[in-house]
Amino acid sequence: MLFKEKGGEQSAAQIRAFDDTWHWTLESAGVYQDIVQNGPRKLGDLLQAMVSFLGHNDMMAYLVMMAARLLELHRVLKATGSIYLHCDSTASHYLRLVMDAIFGVENYRNEIIWKRASAHSDAKQGARHFGRITDTLLFYGKSGRTTFNPLYRPYDQSYIDRDYRRVDPDGRRYRIDNLQGPGGAEKGNPSYEVMGVTRYWRYSKEKMEQLIREGRVIQTRPGAVPQYKRYLDEMPGIPAQSLWDDLPSINNRSKELLGYPTQKPEGLLERVIQTSSNEGDVVLDPFCGCGTAVAVAERLKRRWIGIDVTYLAINLVQRRLTDNFGSNLTPFEIIGLGGHFKTGQ
Ligand SMILES: C[S@@+](CC[C@H](N)C(=O)[O-])C[C@H]1O[C@@H](n2cnc3c(N)ncnc32)[C@H](O)[C@@H]1O
Repeated sequence: MLFKEKGGEQSAAQIRAFDDTWHWTLESAGVYQDIVQNGPRKLGDLLQAMVSFLGHNDMMAYLVMMAARLLELHRVLKATGSIYLHCDSTASHYLRLVMDAIFGVENYRNEIIWKRASAHSDAKQGARHFGRITDTLLFYGKSGRTTFNPLYRPYDQSYIDRDYRRVDPDGRRYRIDNLQGPGGAEKGNPSYEVMGVTRYWRYSKEKMEQLIREGRVIQTRPGAVPQYKRYLDEMPGIPAQSLWDDLPSINNRSKELLGYPTQKPEGLLERVIQTSSNEGDVVLDPFCGCGTAVAVAERLKRRWIGIDVTYLAINLVQRRLTDNFGSNLTPFEIIGLGGHFKTGQ
């Protein structure tokens, strides 16, 4: 029922897209030949090497399909833009080579590992491998000018308890840090006396006096080397790293749940979109499914384009947007459902 065309007949394209399987067909061979003959030389060389290793199998068909699309995505991406390719470990190692050939090794940024589940019990079914609980996001820029807004997450309580043990009378937590200049005189650090202790310091005498006036210098006992008071509430948090293990995936109790089989959590797309774009920028998801990237882009005041080959997905995206944003929804257009529709106008 899901895959019926508007007219009622079954759609081969939609079934194939949903099935998530690819087969080497005349079409794959044609796209492959086209890239080898007319595409960038490095990509052609790579695909030929891959064919000699993999043969004309399903994986190769998938890689050729992706290569053709990644070429176009590279073409339309702005110099300040980034691309995140979300996949699992089945093909991530091949896709990374394809991305290297299209986006350039120098534009590789991260291989982000997203922990999407806490445990898999395949072993009980006789699997002889560790549970596969992570996905991979291959992150590339278009150039050295890509937008990157670093994000921070709160410190773990165990880290706070261990490193920020000291508390001011007004309740502010702090830790003490070294004020001495590493490398001493050789590195040009000034030497003078502070609270009865002479050392090479990290700051000039004037700066040190200012820190003392501001109550930022502490001597834990008479004669001890003075140290710097670093307050917890002035620290930004932990900068996001390439391991994303703090973003739970959608489950049966999630408020976001729409029932779409491969639906991603909004938190994941939020991190991607906030890091790599600013308000008013364009977010493109060429395999948008039920529109997680589109909904998050709308919420974060980005412009957006979502593409999917199934009616089901497009209908869901439309419904999701109206449900989430109601009258605040920015007008958008639907192109290709047998016509060109405008909404909200
Ligand atoms: C993994 S899902 C995306 C899920 C999405 N991130 C979400 O949160 O809902 C991949 C989507 O790609 C679509 N798709 C497959 N082949 C496609 C093609 N050639 N062009 C456009 N969309 C395609 C499928 O219909 C499916 O909805």
